[in-house]
Amino acid sequence: MVLNPLRAALQRVALAAWGKPLLWLLCAWPALALWSAAVADQLGANPAEALIRGLGEWALRFLCVALAVTPLRVTLGVPALARWRRSLGVTVWVYALLHLLAYAWLDQGWDLAELLADVWKRPFILVGMLAMLALTALAATSFNRAVRFLGAVRWRRLHQAVYGVAGLSVLHFWWMRAGKNNFTEVWAYGAVLSVLLLWRVWHARRAQT
Ligand code: HEM
Repeated sequence: MVLNPLRAALQRVALAAWGKPLLWLLCAWPALALWSAAVADQLGANPAEALIRGLGEWALRFLCVALAVTPLRVTLGVPALARWRRSLGVTVWVYALLHLLAYAWLDQGWDLAELLADVWKRPFILVGMLAMLALTALAATSFNRAVRFLGAVRWRRLHQAVYGVAGLSVLHFWWMRAGKNNFTEVWAYGAVLSVLLLWRVWHARRAQT
């Protein structure tokens, strides 16, 4: 079978001692690339906007990757991929936090009153904040101690909120782009996340029967 070598290679990388450091390096790469482009003044005419948008888009991309881990693990039959799920989830949170900090610094100059006025003016920012709040709850409970404290069933139920985060993030993106009538990427992310959610529902139903 043609998939067998791929399966074996993925399993080996995920189990290797250098597998996690490699994953962390790959996760950090987009932030390092954005940072070095900013330092070299290569982010175009509006570097603040490019940095804020770039970090937001990477948060959404890593959310898609994190949610794809279980479907890939199950359909390819690579159990070791489960070791990467938590790191990818934390990566989503870190990119979303950097996106928020870049916005608060470069767009609002750390001025809380200005920031609140902006939320009132552009409600898509409030939607982003709700997504960030839910992501923070998930990141804060992503450690073994939290799983023990909450119990497996309650922990799993709480972490299903990640699909709410996905919905809010796409709504945030859609609302931001609505002013520009430019939805191509929004539909693409929405479609990927819908397929991943539908797979989850189908898989849960199949497990019950
Ligand atoms: C406190 C939370 C958040 C705030 C304050 C915030 C703020 C912003 C702002 C101000 C923009 C537009 C920048 C501009 O006008 O050019 C933006 C765009 C965006 N944000 Fe957020 N955001 C937050 C959370 C999130 C989260 C959790 C995600 C995804 C996981 C996300 C993904 C995006 C994306 C994809 C864009 C559009 C990028 C593009 O057009 O290329 N944001 N956000």
